Amino acid sequence: MARAKLIVGNWKMNGTAAELGEIAAMAAAGADLPAHVTLAICPPATLIDRARTVATGRLVIGAQDVHAAGHGAFTGSVSVAMLDDAGARLVIVGHSERRADHHETDADVRAKAEAVLEGGMTAIVCVGETAAERDAGTTLTVINAQLDGSLPGSVTGLAVAYEPVWAIGSGLTPTLQQVGGVHAAIRTNLVARYGDAGEAVAILYGGSVKPGNAVEILAIDNVDGALVGGASLTAAEFLGIVRAA
Ligand code: 13P
Repeated sequence: MARAKLIVGNWKMNGTAAELGEIAAMAAAGADLPAHVTLAICPPATLIDRARTVATGRLVIGAQDVHAAGHGAFTGSVSVAMLDDAGARLVIVGHSERRADHHETDADVRAKAEAVLEGGMTAIVCVGETAAERDAGTTLTVINAQLDGSLPGSVTGLAVAYEPVWAIGSGLTPTLQQVGGVHAAIRTNLVARYGDAGEAVAILYGGSVKPGNAVEILAIDNVDGALVGGASLTAAEFLGIVRAA
C-alpha cells in the first residue's frame, strides 16, 4: 500500500529566537514539495508560538512532549490544549530520552497519546531497543512490549516512530534489512490491534538519519517517514532529507 511520507524534525533542547530563520527557510522550501510529503518541526515548547508565525504554507509545527492531564497542579508541564493554543498540530510522546531521563513508563506514554488524539492532534509514539537488548536478541520482544503498553485505543491521528536507542545521535544505524524487519513487525502489531486502519498508520524511522542515508532508508518497505534529531537543526540539512522523500 502506498503511503505518504512524514518527515519530522525533533529539535530537542535546542533553539531560541535566533534560529527562527531556519524554520522560515524550511517553510519556504516546503511550499514547493509534492503533496505526498508532509514536513514538520518540533521546536522546544518556548518557540512553538513564534515558530507558527514563521511557518507559512505546509510546514507543521509540533511539540516534543505533553502532560496527559488537561490542567492542574503539575509545575512545569504543559497540556494538549496549551500546545494546541500555541500552534502545535502534532506531539512526540515516549521518546527514549524521556523514557530514560524522566522515567516515563509505557502507561504514561499511552495516557499522553490518548490525550493528544482526544485533542484532535497527531501523536507520534516512539519505541526502540537499547544496544544491550539488541545484542541479547530481544529487539522484537522489546518493541512489541512497548507497543502493547504504549499504543492508544484509538487509531485516528496515530503515528509510530522506531528509534533504536543506540542509533540516536551516534552516527550508527541498523542495516536496511534490520530496519525493514522491525518496521514489518510493527506493521503486523498495528494491523493485529487496529485491523485495516493499522495499515494506514505512518511508521517513521529515527536515529542518525542524514541527507546521505535518507534515500535508502526512506525506500524501505513500511518506512513512511523519518524522525530526525541533529540533522533537523538547519534548513540546509533538513531539506536534504526532505528531498530524499
Ligand atoms: P538523531 O537524528 O540526532 O540521531 O536523533 C534522532 C532522534 O532522537 C529524533 O527524535
